Amino acid sequence: MRQRVPQSPFCYEPGALTDRRLLKLLPVERWPTEAEAKASRWFSPVRVGPHELQERTWVPAMVPWRATDEGFVTPGVLSWYERFAQGEPGAIVVEATGIRDIPSGPLLRAGHDRYVEGLARLVETVKRASRGRTRLYIQLIDFLAIKRRPTKEAFFGRFFKGPREVAEKLLTADEETIARTLSPRDLEAYRFGLRERVTDTHLPHIAELPRVLPGLFAAAARRCLQAGFDGVELHFAHAYTMASFLSALNTRDDGYGGPRENRVKLPLEVYSAVRAEVGARIALGCRFLADEIIEGGNRVDDAAFFGVQFARAGMDFLSLSRGGKFEDAKQPKVGHAAYPYTGPSGHECMPTTAVAAPGPFGRNLPAVADVKQAVVAAGFATPVVACGGIATFQQAEDVLGSGGADVVASARQSLADPDWTKKVREGRGAEVRRCFFTNYCEGLDQAHDVVTCQRWDRLKGLPDDATVPRTKDGRRMVAP
Ligand SMILES: Cc1cc2nc3c(=O)[nH]c(=O)nc-3n(C[C@H](O)[C@H](O)[C@H](O)COP(=O)(O)O)c2cc1C
Ligand code: SF4
Repeated sequence: MRQRVPQSPFCYEPGALTDRRLLKLLPVERWPTEAEAKASRWFSPVRVGPHELQERTWVPAMVPWRATDEGFVTPGVLSWYERFAQGEPGAIVVEATGIRDIPSGPLLRAGHDRYVEGLARLVETVKRASRGRTRLYIQLIDFLAIKRRPTKEAFFGRFFKGPREVAEKLLTADEETIARTLSPRDLEAYRFGLRERVTDTHLPHIAELPRVLPGLFAAAARRCLQAGFDGVELHFAHAYTMASFLSALNTRDDGYGGPRENRVKLPLEVYSAVRAEVGARIALGCRFLADEIIEGGNRVDDAAFFGVQFARAGMDFLSLSRGGKFEDAKQPKVGHAAYPYTGPSGHECMPTTAVAAPGPFGRNLPAVADVKQAVVAAGFATPVVACGGIATFQQAEDVLGSGGADVVASARQSLADPDWTKKVREGRGAEVRRCFFTNYCEGLDQAHDVVTCQRWDRLKGLPDDATVPRTKDGRRMVAP
């Protein structure tokens, strides 16, 4: 039986008295009335490039693993975004969508014209469901190859490129001997699975990234424009190719690595190529890291420098995330790939209530404010989007009021309750189903499983209610 916990002066949802997870959340003294919400900053419009967002609420990119294996939009993708759109936020950013036409599992793709039709259906769905109130952006991503952690037999039998006799010896050697014998890179491939880096310039396809990526991003963005998206967010964050170019760990010696002026060169070239392709018809910005968190990685002064460069180049918005890198990820199990949200930088990216002080709420905000300040000081009004553990009205108002950001995004709180900002706007904040910040959803993402939320995926008394669409195993509802 759950223990009863003491009465709280704050307003939690029903059930708080018996669920300790709710008591770990930021207390809400009082949700705003409808009139207060209407007069607030968060629910006021903001200009982003060619258009206005009706309010400064924003659902950032979240991969739900609902596309086909060929990267097409499915009914599951449509209903996922339809559900967020019914909550009528100012903007929704569609999940990281691949710019190449290569197999990449059930992730959306924009790497060929055949994807335009499905993406156009997605745009129509969101416009209809939000009654035209929500602007729809899409995040475009490039990533390098990462292999699953091999068995010892597979590694020394097939992958290891060293002399055969060494491979044969190591096959029966203990872990300490293996660690002493292999090069750091081979050891990493053995322990974690092979992972390409932007610094692997001995590989022709890595060396040529600066030559091919601007065109690939531009062509994908053109398809998104054709599909009717209001905006494109270039994914320059987390563990992926473009963030790795920005990273202080990028030591390429071809003019695209080393000092930060060089590291920002390719991201700026990608931006220019995309802009040349889509013009000023859509909002074009990027997501990047306010802090990489990893040892030797970018800190907030690097992020401030990049932010100013992006603003000067003419980006329409700057969205800031935090951490989420491979460099400090946990060792995966054999047969699994490393996941960039399992180490300290991952815990900063999607912080839970178990994270160290000051806890998960608004953890990225001081760094975001520093970037915003640098952009303003350089004379630019480019809107800055803050994200990370923001799940109450007061947090959003405080960020906007202090000038630390212009738009406030919430990922997991929107997943827990896609209507949450609408409820707050209508003075019904007490009805918000609050996110527990314990990352059940992130565990599903890690397993590349259909993402749902523990706060609603079994609400209607599964397994008897056969009317609700469910995951393949029949155990979870796929939408709230
Ligand atoms: C299931 C899941 C999938 C995500 N997928 C993406 C993604 O595709 N691109 C991205 O930039 N961030 C992604 N994120 C990170 C979120 O956009 C956000 O930065 C992070 O969850 C912290 O914000 P929050 O505290 O409001 O949840 C994902 C987060 C979750 C929980
Ligand atoms: S599963 Fe739901 S409640 Fe838990 S962290 Fe994710 S969004 Fe929040």
